[in-house]
Order: sequence, then C-alpha cells, then structure tokens
Amino acid sequence: MPAKKTAPKNKNTKKKKKRALVTGVTGQDGSYLAEYLIDLGYEVWGLMRRTSLEPMIRIEKLVRPERRLRIVYGNLRDGASIRQALEESQPDEIYNLAAQSDVGISFKCPDETMDINYHGLGRLIHEAIKVNPKVKIYQASTSEMFGRTNPPQNENSVFAPVSPYGEAKLLAHEDYVKGYREKKGLFICSGILFNHESPRRGEHFVTRKISISLAKVKLGIQESFALGNMDAKRDWGFAGDYVKAMHKMLQQKTPDDYVISTGVSHTVREFVEEAAKVLDMPISWSGKGFDEVGKTKDGKVVVRIAKEYYRPTEVDYLLGDSRKAAKKLGWKPEVSFKQLVRMMVTADYERLKKMKDAGLL
Ligand code: NAP
Ligand code: GDD
Repeated sequence: MPAKKTAPKNKNTKKKKKRALVTGVTGQDGSYLAEYLIDLGYEVWGLMRRTSLEPMIRIEKLVRPERRLRIVYGNLRDGASIRQALEESQPDEIYNLAAQSDVGISFKCPDETMDINYHGLGRLIHEAIKVNPKVKIYQASTSEMFGRTNPPQNENSVFAPVSPYGEAKLLAHEDYVKGYREKKGLFICSGILFNHESPRRGEHFVTRKISISLAKVKLGIQESFALGNMDAKRDWGFAGDYVKAMHKMLQQKTPDDYVISTGVSHTVREFVEEAAKVLDMPISWSGKGFDEVGKTKDGKVVVRIAKEYYRPTEVDYLLGDSRKAAKKLGWKPEVSFKQLVRMMVTADYERLKKMKDAGLL
C-alpha cells in the first residue's frame, strides 16, 4: 500500500484556540463542561455573577485550578454586564447554563425565574450576535418542559410544563432557540436534558439531599430526614456524561435540538433504597401517604414525609428517548443508575467522615 501523504507542517502558523463562554460556570454542569472543554484545548471563559464571596472560593471547589479557567463577571438579568463579558471573552461558542434551576423555588420566585431563564437568554443572544454574528449557542433546555406528557418523551413529544421553571424554559426554547434559528438563521441548539446528577449537584436537589442525609445518618450526625413526593419518577444520568453531548451539538453542520437521557427511570423511593444499600444500611417502608416512614433493620425511623417538600403541581414520570442523539451525535450515557448512586453516596460519606474525624461536625 502506498504511504499516506501528509501536508507539510508550517511551524509559523499556530492554530488559534477556540474560545468558549460558559454561563453558570459555578454550577454543577458549568464546572464539568469547563473542565471538559479545557481538556479539549479550548480557551474557556466562565461567566459568573458578582457576590460577596471571593471568586476563587466559588470556583476552586468545582474546577481544578490548574486548568486555567478565565473568569468574566456578568448577570443574565443585566444586559450591559453581559455585553462587557462578551466583548472581553470574544467567544466562538456560548454554552448558556446559567439559570434559576430549582423547580420547587420557581413556584416561590416565578418572576425572577422568568427573568433569568427566559429574558436572560434573549439578552445574551442580542449582545452575542453584535460581538460575533457567527457565534454558536447551546441553550440548556429541560425535560421539565414535557410536564405531564406521557413517557417516553423525545424531540417530537408535546410540551406541557406545569411549573414556572418549565414555562420559562419552554418560552426560551420556542421564542429564542426555534424562533431565532428559523427567522434569523442563528446557530443555536437546545439540549433537552433529563435529570443529571453528580457529587457536585446542588444540595437542595433530591438526589444530593438523600446522599448527604443518609451519609449523616450512617455517621451518627443526624437521626432522620424528610422528603416530599417519593413516587415521582426521574430518568437520572451522570452530569459528566451529559456535558459531552452539549459540546457535540455545537460541532454539527446544522443546529438542531436533542433529547439527552439514559432511557431508564426510577422513583425517588428507589433512589433512597439504592443509596441506603451502598451504606450497608438497608431500608424498609411502612405506613401510607404522609404517614409513610423508612426504617433501618433495627427499627429506627430515618426517612419521613413532610408536606412542605411537595410541589403545587408535579411532573410525575420522566423517561427519555435519546435515540436521535445516539444516531446523529454518537452520544450515549456511560454511567448507570447504580454507579451514579454509589458515586454520590461514597463521595458524601467520605467527605463528611473526614470532617467528623477532624472534629468539625
Ligand atoms: P445549577 O448547579 O443550579 O447552576 C446554575 C448556575 O446558574 C450557577 O452557576 C448560578 O450561579 C448561575 N446563575 C443563576 N442565576 C444567574 C444569573 N442571573 N446570572 C448569571 N448566572 C446565574 O444548575 P445545573 O444543574 O448545573 O444546570 C445547568 C443548566 O441546565 C441550568 O440552566 C438548568 O436549568 C439546566 N438543566 C439542568 C438539568 C439537571 O438535571 N441538572 C436538567 C435539565 C436542564 P451562582 O453560583 O451565582 O448561583
Ligand atoms: N428537591 C426535592 N426535595 N425534591 C423532592 C423532595 C425533596 O425533599 N422530595 C421529593 N422530591 C421530588 C420532587 O417533587 C421531584 O418530583 C423529584 O423529587 C426530583 O426533584 P429535584 O431533584 O428537585 O429535580 P427536578 O426534577 O424537579 O428538577 C431537576 O431536573 C430538571 C430536569 O428534569 C432540576 O435540575 C431542573 O433544573 C431540571 O431542568
């Protein structure tokens, strides 16, 4: 076989690094995505809103500091701040992960949720195309937009949100992602991501609340904890797998929307059971409705139900069908439900044990 010809290398032409701006970089997904893009050779800029905490305290715990993340300040509620951040970072790709992302809180702060999750994307796009008309944008859409639509849910399923969070994300998807793609020819994609978790998950989301609470019970730091609706079913994947799909979407020839999920769903109750097994502390259930309790083998009540954790309206059953992403992006999840639960529980148990051993708890 003839030897393959390779183009002569010109030592003087250094390829310019691609620049990415990640909004929501202090969040779970932002931290994994920033790490992933830096490893791919991107110059990564993280957009952070100003708070009274030192920026490095907020970033160091998430993104390994040696990986050289650049920080720009900006708030999705403030167009001028976004403009300045874009002028400084000059991105080729924007990943809009910033949001008021807590569904339960969205019932308490619907206006703020709408302003960040819907108008925030509008502000970002309007400023971005002034700085770079060819910019590619990823929008963090969500399975919460499906609301009560029957599972399995895919790109063709009906959207019927039942929370202010879901409504704001759906408006952003329809007006700015689909609308601007069609009317203005913008390269913008929606990742319709189902729930994804990790040891970096916010502590008020149910999976992390369970992993922390059960680890505390095991260590004797806490007696019991309370949950809301344990019958809700979620399709839970690993955040580290999901950020790879975000990047793949922006590398396609044409912009499109993709469902990202595992195709396996579990109840909140099953998450508790699996997490308790990891800690060698199996749980059995007794009672019904608000009187249901979860007990350990020695009869100690460790899980209770509290009305305050129920939502005014609930998404009962999410189960994603991500065959389009598998076919077009070549994406598939790598971490199973059991591996995910073990990863989260072990991380919290070890972290809390160290703190307890050091006399901090
Ligand atoms: P997260 O951990 O709650 O992170 C949200 C990020 O948004 C934080 O960095 C937060 O910054 C930032 N933020 C909030 N308001 C802002 C504002 N006004 N201006 C600038 N930044 C602001 O969320 P996540 O789990 O990583 O999710 C990332 C995105 O994916 C979100 O848009 C979420 O709605 C969407 N999503 C998540 C899932 C999931 O299961 N994780 C599934 C589907 C879609 P602070 O540190 O300052 O609070
Ligand atoms: N947070 C929380 N706390 N949820 C509880 C609790 C509790 O004590 N008890 C039961 N749940 C139930 C909720 O009612 C819901 O049905 C389910 O557990 C999952 O709740 P969360 O972990 O808060 O996630 P979510 O599904 O509402 O929203 C997450 O996933 C969406 C994608 O479907 C968030 O990450 C959203 O930002 C994301 O878009």
